[in-house]
Amino acid sequence: MRRIRIFDTTLRDGEQSPGVNLMREEKIEIARQLERLGVDIIEAGFPITSEGDMEAVRAIAREVRTPVIAALARTHRADIEAAAQALEHAEKPRIHVFTSFSPVHLQHMLRKSEDEVVAMSVASIEAARRYVDDVEFSGQDAMRSDPGFVFRAIAAAIAAGATTINIPDTVGYTAPEEFAALIRGVREVPGAERVHISVHCHNDLGLAVANTLAGLMAGADQCEVAVNGIGERAGNTSLEEVAMAIRTRRDFFGLETGIQAQEIGRTSRLVSRLTGMPVQPNKAIVGANAFAHEAGIHQDGVLKERTTYEIMNPQDIGQGETQLVMGKHSGRHAFQKKLVALGYELPDDEQQELFRRFKALTDKKKQVSDQDIQSLVEDEIYRCDDAYELVHYHVSSAGGAPSTATVGVATKSGAAAGRVTREAAVGQGPIEALYRALQRATGVEAELRDYAIQSVGGGSDAQGEVRCSIAHQGQVLVGSGVSTDILEASALAYLHALNKAAALQAQAAAQEPSGREAI
Ligand code: KIV
Ligand code: ZN
Repeated sequence: MRRIRIFDTTLRDGEQSPGVNLMREEKIEIARQLERLGVDIIEAGFPITSEGDMEAVRAIAREVRTPVIAALARTHRADIEAAAQALEHAEKPRIHVFTSFSPVHLQHMLRKSEDEVVAMSVASIEAARRYVDDVEFSGQDAMRSDPGFVFRAIAAAIAAGATTINIPDTVGYTAPEEFAALIRGVREVPGAERVHISVHCHNDLGLAVANTLAGLMAGADQCEVAVNGIGERAGNTSLEEVAMAIRTRRDFFGLETGIQAQEIGRTSRLVSRLTGMPVQPNKAIVGANAFAHEAGIHQDGVLKERTTYEIMNPQDIGQGETQLVMGKHSGRHAFQKKLVALGYELPDDEQQELFRRFKALTDKKKQVSDQDIQSLVEDEIYRCDDAYELVHYHVSSAGGAPSTATVGVATKSGAAAGRVTREAAVGQGPIEALYRALQRATGVEAELRDYAIQSVGGGSDAQGEVRCSIAHQGQVLVGSGVSTDILEASALAYLHALNKAAALQAQAAAQEPSGREAI
């Protein structure tokens, strides 16, 4: 079996999704989970673009030791120095240098000739090699470029010391056969036998996964992917789709990866929660309906023999069936065992807090499902150090009249620690009233951008999970909250986002304005 390296770009290309802005701690959390998932390379960010990205890459490089940590750089000296600086403490650092190959990019973006692009690339790769042994080189928009130029530039890059050559279909333009043909051509370039060949596809025509698999079959040994397929515009190749295609159809592809399939469900939920990007219900592998059977004939078949209509076992990818076994009589020990069974190893203090929340939930909900517990755990452990905590809320709403809300918010740190601020507000509806009151109580400037609610599992006593995003000083911040009471879930989600804004305000002195550049 040929082993394919999984290069995850959720934290770089994925984070370029419109409206996504991850905090440093959230990026570290995702990077740790990617390590558990078994990816080979994590592209942690683009350090030159902001102090925040630089710090996040530095922190990931320090803390996540098993995968290679990559940092992106243009063919500019300052970019390469910033990438090298960010990777200073990495166990296995990689600088990923990129330029553009297509005439439209050369003419309008770089304003350089082909010869100049080759010269800049060579100089940058040589500069990057002075810092690290592992240098990846990419030419954007390779699939709208002259193959002759692509091969010439790649040959020069290999001679200059690039160790991985990446072929991006930046605008999602190619088709599987065409992409495979180009990859076969790349393999013929002098020196190509000494380097890794990588593919990086975008999904503008919905072909990213198909093109990636075609590229791998044609000889590439690395693919660049993002969890849930997030990324610029229509997104990047979905990690879970490629990994499960390779695993499920080993007989056809003859490939393997190091992905721990059991971690796929949790990784998908984490990325969705922290980015605030919901997974569409019919999304392959990780969508809520991916293993749901509606038609009578299908249900009948699956009940008789699961494989009649399922080509994968949901439990193999951590999307196990809901087992309704926990309830109000379940004790601490059973709860701890459940956490372990769901794959969570948590410190005692977090387990205690979760047990308290679990018990509170069993007062409101007779049977607590695995999904409920996953939701509680993920709500608890993926939080930043909150400045404010919800103490109480009251909302009054009736048809034809404005809604009113009162809230009490406790300050958790600083000179005002322990103080509870009470505020009231009026709104067109209950959520508007609630959010205005919370904003007044915290004093954090924010504008609500998005609000969505979905149920965790089914049943009339299901918990509601709210995700919202706010705009705060030019940044979009997402928050999430879970409760059997959807107003409480709404308040928790908004306060979560306001807490992030407060944390950013506190770091403001150390942070420069973002100035993120689109690639
Ligand atoms: O899509 C693209 O071309 C990229 C490169 C930076 C690899 O993301
Ligand atoms: Zn890309």
